Amino acid sequence: MFENVISIKDFKREDIEFILREAEKMEPFASGEKSSSALRGKILGMMFYEPSTRTRLSFETAMKRLGGDVVGFADTGATSAVKGESLADTAMMLSAYSDAIVIRHNLEGAARYISDVVDVPVINAGDGAGQHPTQTLLDLYTMKRFFGRIGSLRVALVGDLKYGRTVHSLAYALAVFGASMSFVSPPVLRMPDNIIHDLRGAGVEVKETERLDDVIDEVDVLYVTRIQKERFPDPEEYSRIRGAYHIDGSTVADRDLIVMHPLPRIDEISPEVDSLPQAMYFRQAFYGVPVRMALLRLLISERGGSENQKIV
Ligand code: CP
Repeated sequence: MFENVISIKDFKREDIEFILREAEKMEPFASGEKSSSALRGKILGMMFYEPSTRTRLSFETAMKRLGGDVVGFADTGATSAVKGESLADTAMMLSAYSDAIVIRHNLEGAARYISDVVDVPVINAGDGAGQHPTQTLLDLYTMKRFFGRIGSLRVALVGDLKYGRTVHSLAYALAVFGASMSFVSPPVLRMPDNIIHDLRGAGVEVKETERLDDVIDEVDVLYVTRIQKERFPDPEEYSRIRGAYHIDGSTVADRDLIVMHPLPRIDEISPEVDSLPQAMYFRQAFYGVPVRMALLRLLISERGGSENQKIV
């Protein structure tokens, strides 16, 4: 069905629906309620050129829950990259030591590039301000688990829509499912024109606003994002914009919606929201495990997958 996971744009709706069904089967294994050795003897190679908590650790957990093992690095300072080894050569090495590669890199296109170099499956764990397709799959899974559907949902994407790779991937996927979208951001952090153009070209009605109040009564999902400080060329511009949106208890109280966030959060969501029924972000982060288990199993054990393969 697929050999790599590079961009959500490479996936058809039926591919995504298949992965989400597989992920649901993984939930008891992800929580440790059941055990699996489906990937025993297999090794996942991790190349993290940018910091990560959830993506890296949930991939590691997913691989280990399936009976496999993990090698790799999360700190390039401890690798031969500091001696000048190229990305391609480093990827070649990881491909010799592992059965699939997960890469996070600051450069857009890095995952696609190494997928052309190595002969094992490559998973994009975030490439600069480009894409974060496995985050999108777990975001969709969260919506599906909570609402039982994705298609007719009304989703507001809030915050840094310019540099936030999670919202770039998610917007394309929501379009495939026919969900309606509102984009809420400061003018300088608008969703890139090329993405808006693609969405409108696909027949999606896109509403853009700077004010959360314009849309909050019309949405099922508030998808809040962090302002991506590390991608601002001008730190003063970041200081002017930080704190543009803040969700607290009064923002969501009595509202029939869920609050999602790819995390990490800085100050966009007050901790008082965490205990409210609308708060979905920690559950969302857990769903990274079953979704990534499903992907690893399909990519490594089946190289294409079939719905009836054995899990245990
Ligand atoms: N959502 C996400 O990508 O989190 P990390 O940066 O911690 O991996």
